[in-house]
Amino acid sequence: MTAPLTFGMFQTMGLSGSWRLPDNTTPGFLTLDYWTTLAKRSEEAGVDFLFIADDFGYPLIDGEVSPTAVEHALLFPRGDPSMVMSAMAAATEKLGLVVTMSTSADRPPALARRMATLDHVTNGRIGWNVVTGAGQNASARLFGEPMKAHDDRYAAAEDYLKLAMTLWEGSWEDGALKVDRAAGVYADAAMVHEIHYDGTHFRSDGVFTVPPSPQRTPLLFQAGASTKGRDVAARYAEAVFLAAEPDAVREQIADIRARAVAAGREPDAIKFLIAGTYVVAPTHDEALALRETVTAFVTTADAAVQYAFFTGLDLTKMDPSKPLQSTASEQGRTNIERFTGEDAPTVGEILEEFRVNGVMSRPFLGTPAEAVDQTVALMEHTGADGVLVQPGPTGDSASFFELVVPELKRRGLMEGPAQATTLRERLFPAGSAHLPPSHPGHALRVGR
Ligand SMILES: Cc1cc2nc3c(=O)[nH]c(=O)nc-3n(C[C@H](O)[C@H](O)[C@H](O)COP(=O)(O)O)c2cc1C
Repeated sequence: MTAPLTFGMFQTMGLSGSWRLPDNTTPGFLTLDYWTTLAKRSEEAGVDFLFIADDFGYPLIDGEVSPTAVEHALLFPRGDPSMVMSAMAAATEKLGLVVTMSTSADRPPALARRMATLDHVTNGRIGWNVVTGAGQNASARLFGEPMKAHDDRYAAAEDYLKLAMTLWEGSWEDGALKVDRAAGVYADAAMVHEIHYDGTHFRSDGVFTVPPSPQRTPLLFQAGASTKGRDVAARYAEAVFLAAEPDAVREQIADIRARAVAAGREPDAIKFLIAGTYVVAPTHDEALALRETVTAFVTTADAAVQYAFFTGLDLTKMDPSKPLQSTASEQGRTNIERFTGEDAPTVGEILEEFRVNGVMSRPFLGTPAEAVDQTVALMEHTGADGVLVQPGPTGDSASFFELVVPELKRRGLMEGPAQATTLRERLFPAGSAHLPPSHPGHALRVGR
């Protein structure tokens, strides 16, 4: 394990699981104040970035929106997180800002332009979590399209990413921007090029109208750990989010790393961050009591709805005493593959796992010192580089900031607020603001 670790804060633009607790803040998710306060808090604490997950989908059961999801606010409701990124940027100077945008929604030039603009207005602090989209059955229905098969979605995502990188890297040469008022030259027309992209799913001919941003390509994150997802991560991701049991995460990290090296990338080209929930209190017993309070809200029906969202499988229709009886699904596959194979748990055990831990696996639990011990043990066991901190009981990670951060700093596992820099340099201080030479996007740069 290399200290300091990397820390990101996880959010959705919606309600967190414990929203019914009186001190949970997430019902304020549609106010700007919620986001700017959280961003300032994260920067003051010294975490590396704040991430907002996103999806157009929601839980469907038997082809219709789940009433349980609507009543209990399960993976529903959702705002558009890209809308609050610039407000958070204005409230901070150093914090990285990472946002999910699905490759199944907007067309590539639209996403590329939004990302490049965000990279400018954040001074290079933007990261893109590249996903095909978890709740595909609902989102395809919403967009009025047939649902693409799982592996086709990843093939399209790869093509999408290549086109986006071509736009960011391949249109403007370095130095093309002149802003020469005396000569009346904004940009050197000979140094701004049309790109011509003819891919398997997308084509594009034209110039990218946004001048090069500090990072050009935003820092690339990936979060699907299915076999296809790992493959895309290994070739393109610079940071990967994972959530599974420790042995499974260790295997996923080793596998993605080996594939990345086989693809010609450096062994340390990818940061692996495990989604981790901190249930902490000044004493061990208080932490256990807090865990009881938080899990008491969640029913087995809620767990089934959440599992259906991620996998398309309805566990309430299966025998709870046996392992998964059907694994056929074109929805997300991470949470199917995670529960199959040797020693596969029963359906009843999967439901209980989702009831008490949700999709993110067991929490770090106890006093701050115990929780940090558990963090270190998990990093050492899995080879991960850091933690993507879940919102915790109050939704704004207050107990993480108040109790865990001081303990992490005391042990040298988290640095204080860093220098203002691009997100890429923050996570890879030895590198530059731009894609490193072993990344496939590096070769797309025009005029080198
Ligand atoms: C910490 C974490 C964050 C994630 N964030 C998102 C997200 O914002 N949007 C999304 O569609 N999927 C997200 N995912 C991935 C989904 O869980 C799901 O695995 C994926 O979208 C479907 O791909 P798969 O078939 O590879 O599982 C996240 C996963 C993890 C572990």
